[in-house]
Amino acid sequence: MDWHKVAESIHEFNFQENNMCVISVADKKISIGLFDNKIFAFSYKCPHASGILSNGWIDNTGNVVCPVHRYKFCMENGRNVSGEGYYLKTFPIEIRENGVYIGIENKNFFSFLKI
Ligand code: FES
Repeated sequence: MDWHKVAESIHEFNFQENNMCVISVADKKISIGLFDNKIFAFSYKCPHASGILSNGWIDNTGNVVCPVHRYKFCMENGRNVSGEGYYLKTFPIEIRENGVYIGIENKNFFSFLKI
């Protein structure tokens, strides 16, 4: 897992009215959601049919709702809480003293050789 600094603080994110925004990190677009003073990081596109999740909304229990077919996903663990059997990729996000970091798996086969 590689940790990438994505902001100095949570206030740097450009949240839209729906409390979501999109950032680019490690050649990926990642959705950021804010709910109950916590932030979550998850895939840019819906695992069902690639709806842009940041164009959807966050329901009153903290699930992201896809704008295309309204499937719902837990922003914390990716569970498809509306029950269609999909899984949303989520990313660990940490607010540290010196910034906000997102953890992304290093898919490079040789990454285990890094010291
Ligand atoms: S594309 Fe997201 S629910 Fe269908």
